[in-house]
Amino acid sequence: MTMKVKASTFCVTVGVALVVAVAFAGVANKAPESVVLDKAHSKRPSVSFPHKVHADTIACETCHHTNKGLKATDTVEVQPCSACHLDPDKPEIGSIRDMSLTKNPFHKLCIDCHKKEAKGPAKCNDCHKQ
Ligand code: HEC
Ligand code: HEC
Ligand code: HEC
Ligand code: HEC
Repeated sequence: MTMKVKASTFCVTVGVALVVAVAFAGVANKAPESVVLDKAHSKRPSVSFPHKVHADTIACETCHHTNKGLKATDTVEVQPCSACHLDPDKPEIGSIRDMSLTKNPFHKLCIDCHKKEAKGPAKCNDCHKQ
């Protein structure tokens, strides 16, 4: 009897968690023009990210690495990076609260490519604009 009650409570909890997760995810073919990355910002100003400039020329999965083969015409749910990288549940997953240029997944991904391509901001204040 107690077991049954616990099982149904568990199902409701999981159900609610799924609805919440879907509510916070975007849909691929409604990819944003531009995004303000501000979930972690405290020491530095938030970062304005021109999504379309990137998504028009760079393969989606370069950044959305958990959605392999993602295309602009897909209608699948796309989770924001912050869903996993804001307060990661494992020490091996990088945090976007980290100042480190090698550990913060945004710093690593964004700056590495800008340096490689010699295009796009690579200096602190060019991304973290007042
Ligand atoms: C250069 C990296 C990059 C590329 C390439 C890219 N995205 Fe994104 N995308 C992001 C970032 C960063 C966000 C904001 C995530 C956040 O708020 O944590 C985002 C957000 C999104 C969102 C909204 C997610 C949400 O709920 O906040 C969708 C949908 C999306 N992208 C789809 C796409 C599709 C489809 C493509 C390819 C056509 C693509 N993206 C290419 C980096 C990229
Ligand atoms: C290519 C763009 C880019 C560059 C260049 C960059 N950052 Fe960031 N940084 C980000 C993004 C995006 C975040 C996540 C912001 C958020 O989600 O609120 C971030 C997060 C941070 C955070 C944690 C959040 C906070 O405000 O406390 C710190 C600290 C930080 N950056 C410092 C720096 C410093 C210092 C430099 C230069 C050595 C630098 N960043 C260069 C994009 C950049
Ligand atoms: C569903 C959870 C999840 C989402 C969503 C997610 N990541 Fe990750 N990410 C991980 C995990 C787990 C790892 C570590 C293991 C691995 O490399 O796959 C990781 C690793 C990374 C790394 C490699 C770090 C290193 O040290 O080499 C980068 C860069 C990165 N993520 C950036 C992003 C960006 C940018 C987004 C959003 C566009 C994003 N991630 C969305 C879970 C996620
Ligand atoms: C795989 C390569 C790549 C990645 C990853 C990448 N960028 Fe870029 N970014 C570029 C290129 C190339 C340009 C130059 C685009 C142009 O001028 O047409 C650029 C330009 C920019 C610009 C200036 C846009 C303008 O209109 O002047 C900003 C801001 C920017 N990137 C932010 C980011 C942030 C924040 C991230 C990480 C979330 C990121 N980028 C990830 C390649 C990349």
